[in-house]
Amino acid sequence: MIKINENYLKLQASYLFIDIARRVQAFQAAHPEREIIKLGIGDVTHPLPDACIRAFHQGVDDLADARTFRGYGPEQGYAFLREKIALHDFTARGAQVAADEIFISDGAKCDNGNIQEIFAQDVRIAVPDPVYPVYVDTNVMAGRTGSARDGRYEGLVYLEGTRENGFIPALPCEPVDLIYLCYPNNPTGAVITREQLKAWVDYARENRALILYDAAYESFIRDPALPRSIYEIEGAREVAVEFRSFSKTAGFTGTRCAFTVVPKDCMAYDGTGERHAVHALWNRRHGTKFNGVSYPVQKAAEAVYSPEGQAQARALIDGYLENASLIRREMGALGFYCVGGENSPYIWVDGRRDSWAFFDLLLNDAGVVCTPGAGFGKCGEGYIRISAFNSRENVEKAMGRIRSALMK
Ligand code: MLT
Repeated sequence: MIKINENYLKLQASYLFIDIARRVQAFQAAHPEREIIKLGIGDVTHPLPDACIRAFHQGVDDLADARTFRGYGPEQGYAFLREKIALHDFTARGAQVAADEIFISDGAKCDNGNIQEIFAQDVRIAVPDPVYPVYVDTNVMAGRTGSARDGRYEGLVYLEGTRENGFIPALPCEPVDLIYLCYPNNPTGAVITREQLKAWVDYARENRALILYDAAYESFIRDPALPRSIYEIEGAREVAVEFRSFSKTAGFTGTRCAFTVVPKDCMAYDGTGERHAVHALWNRRHGTKFNGVSYPVQKAAEAVYSPEGQAQARALIDGYLENASLIRREMGALGFYCVGGENSPYIWVDGRRDSWAFFDLLLNDAGVVCTPGAGFGKCGEGYIRISAFNSRENVEKAMGRIRSALMK
């Protein structure tokens, strides 16, 4: 008799975005005449930058020619891409990261989900609330929690983000070992200042904790005073792993390319207190379970760092940021308190009612899909998240429909 991993039975409902897609599908089946505008899941809608497309084609052509053909690439990624990332995303901005500390992968979601495997079963884990569900669910699957009670899993430390603290949680009052942070934040769109991030780095250094810093949305930061990488903070190399993605930066959600930075100074401990380099552990895990991202995709990602690629990727993000600012302005004008949408593609709206009820209202009366805040945790109740990933035309139409629906 084959037995299952019973930790899966503890998981609450299905993965949030699958649940939403199912509801939208049911609505569409019942109302085939209604046109739906999706501002729910943060999936990009604009095509890849032209520079990436050209490099992608060239990568495919290379595979068609015996002289340039490549089979398996290095599991950690091609040097041509790792070197560009180290230079443009880190050293040029004053953060010390070497090319061989960068691990290319097929997604920040996968890396965020997989990294927990290299830590002990009994590490004490702190997650934000509201939270990107992957941080929680992967630890539930791994058996690091008890059951869910009243929307929270036993054994996790929840770092509460509220309107009062601007969705930047306070440092934990109880000891924790592994801390998940995400800025610009998914789902709230809140951003963290250098001083606030420094407090977390200092906490991790004092407590021999490790920060898993999800910076998938860093390219939306336009305020030069805000940190774009945790490694801009002194001492972070010893206590932080950072996750980045080309998904939102350059429209790679369907193409798949991301990377994780594991500095060689970053240490974790065995049962006797002996130090071990997290880099070596992650390298071992990556080499065993992953065979690298395809060569043409890495060529396409490399083109993000060419002068045209930089300009085109920036223009893409500028377009989404203009949408974000429109959404924030419109929802604000309707009297809703909003966070985010300034250095982030997400606008977090206090709906002043049950968040699934607000989701249903917007779907039924405006034909607009958002994401109910309750799906991100207890502190998300009462909020919805609106994503700026769509065309300007659709965002304008969606805002007009929301206005009519709420004012009727
Ligand atoms: C979201 O909508 O929160 C994101 O699309 C999730 C993701 O990138 O996996």
